[in-house]
Amino acid sequence: MRPDLSSAPPAVAAPILAATGLARAVPLAGGGRRTLFAGVDLAVRPGEVVAIVGESGVGKSTLLNVVAGLDAADAGQVLIGGQDIAALAEPARAALRASALGFVFQAFHVLPHLTLARNVALPCLLAGMNAADALARAEAMLAQVGLDGRGADWPAVLSGGELQRVAIARALVNRPGLVLADEPTGNLDPETAARILDLLLSEARERRAAVLIVTHSDMVAGAADRVLRLSASGLVPA
Ligand SMILES: Nc1ncnc2c1ncn2[C@@H]1O[C@H](COP(=O)(O)OP(=O)(O)O)[C@@H](O)[C@H]1O
Ligand SMILES: [Mg+2]
Repeated sequence: MRPDLSSAPPAVAAPILAATGLARAVPLAGGGRRTLFAGVDLAVRPGEVVAIVGESGVGKSTLLNVVAGLDAADAGQVLIGGQDIAALAEPARAALRASALGFVFQAFHVLPHLTLARNVALPCLLAGMNAADALARAEAMLAQVGLDGRGADWPAVLSGGELQRVAIARALVNRPGLVLADEPTGNLDPETAARILDLLLSEARERRAAVLIVTHSDMVAGAADRVLRLSASGLVPA
């Protein structure tokens, strides 16, 4: 009998994120431009956790924003699930982000006029889930980041570390294939940071998400499959 090759898994899964030749310069106040990075190549496969480290101001957040299609590169290409995000019109790009991508912003961007549960439910609602199911999933996700029963609270009463955990819950609630997290443990005590790291690792290990984390934490970098350092000369193994 011939083996059924049609169901054989590929030896190496195709990357969820494939970026090539990314470059970005920013304007200087006195005129001219400063190159943050150039020639950045990056691939993250299903189930893989990649950490990016680098000095403050080197362009890590800018790189993550470019990868998410929230900022434009000066050169290069970003493919998410094989799709060129820059080539999409904004509505299609927003739809791709909503369905495929979870982003933990360094500045949280938790919306002040929505309760915690509604903040976290937002990606599910944008993806078309009914409100009751979305809110139930948001409450369960809040419990996973250690904010059980806090869904009715307002962002204004939260500490920075609590807001960071709301941002993480919102990024993961829709079970995205690609998780981009910008210093996700930067405001957390060591015990809570370990819990959040476990949650991010299980996204990769159990759900086979591709996880890209910008971090200054040795604990986070130590748990990653690969650590890359961003500098003006590019993104290289740390
Ligand atoms: N749109 C912009 N215009 C001018 N300068 C910018 C812009 N975006 C980022 N920068 C500058 O680029 C540098 C890198 O910023 P950022 O990506 O936030 O660094 P990191 O996350 O590594 O600390 C900083 O000096 C920042 O002020
Ligand atoms: Mg940053």
